[in-house]
Amino acid sequence: MEIAQEIRALKKARDAVILAHYYVEPEVQELADYVGDSFFLSKKAVELPQSTILFCGVSFMGESAKLLNPEKTVLMAEPAADCPMAHMADPRAVAELRRQDPDLAVVCYINSTAVLKACADVCVTSANAVDIVRALPQRRVLFLPDRNLARYVAAQVPEKEILLPNGFCPTHDRMLSDEVERLKALHPEALVLAHPECPQAVTDGADYVGSTSGILRFAAGSDAPAFIICTEHGVRHPLTRDNPGKAFYFPQPTPVCPDMKTITPQKILQILQTGAHPVEIDPALMTAARRPLDEMLRLAR
Ligand code: 13P
Ligand code: SF4
Repeated sequence: MEIAQEIRALKKARDAVILAHYYVEPEVQELADYVGDSFFLSKKAVELPQSTILFCGVSFMGESAKLLNPEKTVLMAEPAADCPMAHMADPRAVAELRRQDPDLAVVCYINSTAVLKACADVCVTSANAVDIVRALPQRRVLFLPDRNLARYVAAQVPEKEILLPNGFCPTHDRMLSDEVERLKALHPEALVLAHPECPQAVTDGADYVGSTSGILRFAAGSDAPAFIICTEHGVRHPLTRDNPGKAFYFPQPTPVCPDMKTITPQKILQILQTGAHPVEIDPALMTAARRPLDEMLRLAR
């Protein structure tokens, strides 16, 4: 039997649904029932009727799906796929800042461990961070763990005092504005679309800044014939499939998230066969880390 057919049969037998982030390989995206950015996937996770979610993404995504669906089985296509940025903040430092300022709001990017989420008042994704921070009653906001997204949000919401963290996405943070300028000189007709995890020099020079879904929406709705895409290379698959005739250029070296790329159709098949390594979270942590995710979904409504 062909692998896609086998996966379909096992999904049915396990009452499973496959969710994938745009940064996984095209052949994995093609096997998924739903492909999206972090916000879309967390909303989807709570709407789906299936009892098992198989996640093609990194561990914080599977953890978030489990936090939002404690009664469901959440399987990871590659349990070792992790996001380095998710670990780049110290809960003890957060507790100390809260002690110094009891009115501080703590906002945690969804790209974070459950332990870090548990320290936060509300989670955000790149798709809703600006709106949610703007809507908070507090004026002082600690934003964790991405310094680039935090700085971008701070610029959009000048009425708030945002305390900037030190974390970063290794894939986006290494994007260089000189390289974007080189591509602009080669393709003057192209618009620059950037993810807010990119450094300021890149987002400042962009025509559009937004989440991966935002970038896809902008490219589809624009009349421009070409785009310089400053985010992970996995978005090339939906961009080229959905926009025939438009050209897409990526800065060099090609921005690739190594952990996302470890997921393969063979691993999906194997996990569906064995049901191995379901995501498990300690019950106390579960309650504490779910609260800011629920708050995000409530505020984003
Ligand atoms: P979004 O998909 O939410 O834009 O986030 C990008 C990312 O880095 C996910 O790991
Ligand atoms: Fe983490 Fe960056 Fe990979 Fe997203 S692209 S999972 S933020 S390392």
